[in-house]
Amino acid sequence: MKTIDSVQSEKRLFPPSERFVSQSLLDAEGLRALREEASADPDGFWLKQSQLLHWQTPPTEGLDQSQHPFVTWFKDGELNLTESCLDRHLSTARRNKAALIWEGEPGDQRVLTYFELHREVCRAAAALLRLGIKTGDRVVIYMPMIPELVIAVLACARIGATHSVIFGGFSSEAIRDRISDAGATAVLTADGGYRRGKVVPLKHNVDEALKHCPEVRHVIVVSRTGQDISMHPGRDHFWADLVRAEHGLCDAVAVPSEHPLFILYTSGTTGKPKGVVHSTGGYATHVAFTTKYVFDLRDEDTYFCTADVGWITGHSYIVYGPLIHGATVVMYEGAPDAPHKGRFWEIIDKWGVTIFYTAPTAIRAFMRWGDSHPRSHRLSSLRLLGTVGEPINPAAWLWYHEHIGHGRCPIVDTWWQTETGGIMVSPLPGATVTKPGSCTQPLPGIAVETVHKDGSRCGRSEGGYLVVTRPWPGQLRTVWGDPERYRKTYFGDIQIDGRPVYFTGDGARFDEDGYLWVMGRVDDVLNVAGHRIGTAEVESALVGHPHVAEAAVVGRPDDLKGQAIVAFVTLRSGHSQTPETASLLKEHVVHDIGAIARPDEIRFTEALPKTRSGKIMRRLLREIATTGKAVGDVTTLEDMAVLQRLSSANSDEE
Ligand code: WT7
Repeated sequence: MKTIDSVQSEKRLFPPSERFVSQSLLDAEGLRALREEASADPDGFWLKQSQLLHWQTPPTEGLDQSQHPFVTWFKDGELNLTESCLDRHLSTARRNKAALIWEGEPGDQRVLTYFELHREVCRAAAALLRLGIKTGDRVVIYMPMIPELVIAVLACARIGATHSVIFGGFSSEAIRDRISDAGATAVLTADGGYRRGKVVPLKHNVDEALKHCPEVRHVIVVSRTGQDISMHPGRDHFWADLVRAEHGLCDAVAVPSEHPLFILYTSGTTGKPKGVVHSTGGYATHVAFTTKYVFDLRDEDTYFCTADVGWITGHSYIVYGPLIHGATVVMYEGAPDAPHKGRFWEIIDKWGVTIFYTAPTAIRAFMRWGDSHPRSHRLSSLRLLGTVGEPINPAAWLWYHEHIGHGRCPIVDTWWQTETGGIMVSPLPGATVTKPGSCTQPLPGIAVETVHKDGSRCGRSEGGYLVVTRPWPGQLRTVWGDPERYRKTYFGDIQIDGRPVYFTGDGARFDEDGYLWVMGRVDDVLNVAGHRIGTAEVESALVGHPHVAEAAVVGRPDDLKGQAIVAFVTLRSGHSQTPETASLLKEHVVHDIGAIARPDEIRFTEALPKTRSGKIMRRLLREIATTGKAVGDVTTLEDMAVLQRLSSANSDEE
């Protein structure tokens, strides 16, 4: 029996232009050589990449997997990561190069050079030390996307405190649970933050959370909005008051390579927060390597990643990766449509951005908003585009390629996870011929395979479980406070030759050319008349229709077929939610992938339920399709009003 059937067939090929290849770090020949080197001696390969960092004691050992699945990398090395991100640039021409170009939502801006960023990080780190915060302590950071967020992260790293950034959209309950789980003793926050012109009450949320967290001794507050807040005497301090007293020198504390740099909470299947723990040296080596080659990063680049530092993408590819390479990073505080729907394009135009990294959900929103927004800004500085977060449907890929990249920029579709720390599967822009919708091939040094439940390998084009068969440097080291949960969640499902391997939770297939196509989370896979079909493929077919802006597909129990396919569809403006449109879309799916994938029901809706990081919550849709309402946990939902609207969604079923 097949594990997952594939129904998608995207055939177009996009080689990088000769011009791009001639200037890139790695061409096809270079990539072949790098792959050979990595597969001949993965340990030696990664040990060599660790030299991208500055070590106080360089490592001599690579991987130690004697306690597998608990592994270490470079365990005899010692470093302080902020020296790689800051200090070492100060003795070069990067000293007064812009490290951070920041744009606030209301239109204010700040530019910090490497020299200035270093000074600010040292002052904040010295202030933390003065409060008694030390190496090994956990510090929670709950801030808007302002420069102090980056400074706070690096200040923790400077003194060896383990940071845990909580995305600014989370509620006080979420903050409370994470602080308690991490055992954090300090919280760095702001009075408030701006989001679509409104003010988010960050300090207030922290106050609510701390009613239940007596272990927190210090709260440091950045003034961003100037709104009224209450300050708890003895516990709360203003950031400005603390750093004013420091003069900008603070030794970088060397920590062992395996020291936990940060904890990042991610959603699990239970209500208990799951703290993904990342190391210092291994994590940073992985991130340094991938930032360099996947983004083909050069000193002249101006790099803009639209993620929030509250997510792993922001940790790895706004803060650590780009700064390790001395890049200029553009950081934007607000929403893509505030105050207008061309905000990203305006920023690219204004600062001459050369590399742009965003998510498919954002790209589909740009498509819905129309071509006129990118068209009214100059995007000619762009040379490379990237995406991350979910499978990108070919229609969105092609729109991105044409309307943002003007047919000139390679697109790197990067597959990875909070748990992998850095990019695992991706094109290398000067070397890989891309196919819209495929994240192409595993990076050198990364061993990714598709297998059946019993661990036997899938054939070419056969869908299966996506696993990583060899430890990699950026791998999560454990779940904070719960090593057994780490083992069970990631290594409890699949074994190859009796040895547990890391299971990603994704379904995927390699095509005839060895290109990887991610088909979605296996928990979401549809089972229709004995065929297991990935949600991503049916959704991609729907979104390929010109009337459709977004689609999410789920299974509803069906006596006859096992599952019936229910599609929740958002139309582009100007198209009406009629039974005719529904039939049209069903026929479109049949035409595109075959009768087996024909949706039984189309439900039109104005919006889909998403997590705060933009992932569609298919579980909720499954509940709505099955019982008429969402019954499970909805705490990670971004916009509660969407649920209301969904239950009354317009169905084509009588
Ligand atoms: C899951 C991980 C990695 C940073 C943001 C998300 C999906 C991610 C892709 C891609 C297809 C992708 C997978 C993965 N995903 N990137 N390029 N193509 N699917 O991190 O929240 O930990 O989610 O996102 O399903 O397992 P995350």
